[in-house]
Amino acid sequence: MTMSGESSESFQIPLEVAEFYESVFVPAFFAQWAPILCDAAGVASGQRVLDVGCGSGIVARTAADLVVPDGRIVGVDLNEAMLTVARRVRPDIEFRRGNAEALPFLDESFDTVLCQMALMFFPDRPRALWEMARVVTAGGTVAVLVPGALDAQPAFAPFVRMAARHAGTEAMSLLGTYFVCGDVEELTGLVESAGLQIATIRTRLGTYRAPSVDAFVTTEVESTPLLERISDDEYRRIRADAHDVLAPFTTTDDSIEAPFECNIVVARRQ
Ligand SMILES: C[S@@+](CC[C@H](N)C(=O)[O-])C[C@H]1O[C@@H](n2cnc3c(N)ncnc32)[C@H](O)[C@@H]1O
Repeated sequence: MTMSGESSESFQIPLEVAEFYESVFVPAFFAQWAPILCDAAGVASGQRVLDVGCGSGIVARTAADLVVPDGRIVGVDLNEAMLTVARRVRPDIEFRRGNAEALPFLDESFDTVLCQMALMFFPDRPRALWEMARVVTAGGTVAVLVPGALDAQPAFAPFVRMAARHAGTEAMSLLGTYFVCGDVEELTGLVESAGLQIATIRTRLGTYRAPSVDAFVTTEVESTPLLERISDDEYRRIRADAHDVLAPFTTTDDSIEAPFECNIVVARRQ
């Protein structure tokens, strides 16, 4: 499930894809990270919190339950369908359409800015981090959660390498989008360049779940442009070899449970 960073005009997904994201991917994968990010950032009662690249709103919802009774949460995303789902699930939270690279908020509007699993899709990441630093108050917190490097992912690394053997190196970059912010030094450098001071850097292991090997392959290949660029035969070979590559992560009911590493960088604005 890729959310590639394209222009805001072309970057819209259908409502049914956003609903599928909320009903399948959020419980299976994204929800586990939201309390970890909120905890790392110190989200607490009374804070004004912004969730950048909020998707269907899992981080905003988690933070909303922590800032009661008088805090304020805003979620911002480029994708109208994601916002429609976010508003349906939690009509009491404010969700706004906006680009992370030009946040539609005044300077110093929030105590905490959170960004979960989205930085890697922003075409201009320095600009997006600069924007997060701009809208947070002096002394406020910016916390970013991104997947670790591809090499640190025990299931995804061999799967992507296997796909690249069949479909060429382009498969590596198309399937590897999620992991492009995985270099911790590079990430902290970017955060510091935005004028933020690093407070903590943590690495956490979570779990990526899929109902079957076939479902894993379908999700990874068919949500990227790779599908249009490979032959039926290449796709058939990727599907077949995925059973071997993912065997260590296949459970007794044939579902996949794979360790997944994320990095969380928490920084403060001076
Ligand atoms: C993988 S989803 C993560 C969503 C959510 N944070 C979560 O954890 O479920 C990435 C989100 O980033 C959003 N996104 C991508 N580029 C963006 C941009 N330039 N500005 C705002 N949102 C963007 C996408 O629309 C998508 O909802």
